[in-house]
Amino acid sequence: MSDGNNIPMSSPDITDAERQAVAAVLQTPNLSMGSQIQAFEEAFRSFTGCKHALGVNSGTAGLHLCVLAAGVGTGDLVITTPFSFVASSNVLLFERAVPVFVDIDPLTGNIDPELVAEAARDLNQGGAAARNWLPRQGAPQSAQLKAILPVDVFGQPADLDPILKVAAQYRLKVIEDSCEALGAEYKGRKAGTIGDYGVFAFYPNKQITTGEGGVIVTDDDQAADLMRALRNQGRAPGDTWLQHTHLGFNYRLDEMSAVLGKVQMTRLDELLNKREQVAAWYSERLEEIPGVEAPKIVATTTRVSWFVYVIRFAPGIDRDRIARAIGEQGIPARPYFIPIHLQPYMVSRFGYQPGDFPVTEDLGRRGLAIPFSSVMTEPQVDRVCQSIREAIRGQRE
Ligand SMILES: Cc1ncc(COP(=O)(O)O)c(C=O)c1O
Repeated sequence: MSDGNNIPMSSPDITDAERQAVAAVLQTPNLSMGSQIQAFEEAFRSFTGCKHALGVNSGTAGLHLCVLAAGVGTGDLVITTPFSFVASSNVLLFERAVPVFVDIDPLTGNIDPELVAEAARDLNQGGAAARNWLPRQGAPQSAQLKAILPVDVFGQPADLDPILKVAAQYRLKVIEDSCEALGAEYKGRKAGTIGDYGVFAFYPNKQITTGEGGVIVTDDDQAADLMRALRNQGRAPGDTWLQHTHLGFNYRLDEMSAVLGKVQMTRLDELLNKREQVAAWYSERLEEIPGVEAPKIVATTTRVSWFVYVIRFAPGIDRDRIARAIGEQGIPARPYFIPIHLQPYMVSRFGYQPGDFPVTEDLGRRGLAIPFSSVMTEPQVDRVCQSIREAIRGQRE
């Protein structure tokens, strides 16, 4: 039974500096489109070294704008992963484009670059070879491959060098979904800066938070101009408040959120180091529990930016029963991810079936995110691990 001492699934890490900064904005009349968004964007330009940074009101909004900047539209194809949060595919559906899923690397859960290369080759060729990669239903007869959308899953960057090679060969844009990976590094390069456009997200379970929010980074001047207009109801430079050159959106980030993010960015190293410490506490303890695998970090990841801590159970252990058992002890846990292609709206639109992406489905069945944040204490980590140990023992008896 829960003893009133529940451990939260995730927690923001907010200090008086953030509280005071938000309160100070509220003393001014400028609650949107003021100096705070500019300062927040400057923090991202300086952190990433990218020429442009655009604050938006969610990671999803950021990805959607990148899809538009990449020129992806009705019936276009984009190679992406079914092992992700749904937003990375939804933004393609928003523009009536079709995600072409390829399966993942079983160690990291990131898109498999060899499958990306094969899919790009076959889709470029067209005909029967191309049809093998398309969903059973819902894909147009003739469609053009336009982009690749890899995701840096759980804070570990996708293997991007071979993906960039494929993109160069077939002239495809690369939209890097780094929503889970602020501060991660791939072969010494910062996640989000490697493709044509990168997107970070700041929901309260993320490495930094703005409440809701996101940032797009890019070196592409034209794309940045377009996305800046589209986030602001389609107003191009020179348009007045009621003139709209483009069909746009309200994807603006307000000043309270921006200042919160600005202060959080000054603490990024501290926040990432604390998360790394919590992950290390978990890994030490979980290694000793038979049937549990801790996350694997591969050599291309020169810095992990821990987002969630997802363990995997050995085949034969009933993950959902473990989740229920620890839940009764006040310890929440979530299956991570439920594959995108098996979400009901994807099944009804594209006709996907279980078995279509076996590695994704295997990780989807065996993975469990356990409580994780930068404010977790070592005794809390102990309690979670002890509870998992007992639940597994209970299942074996
Ligand atoms: C991989 C991935 N992509 C996109 C998003 C969307 O971000 P937001 O929730 O800010 O819209 C998230 C957020 O959870 C994510 O994990």
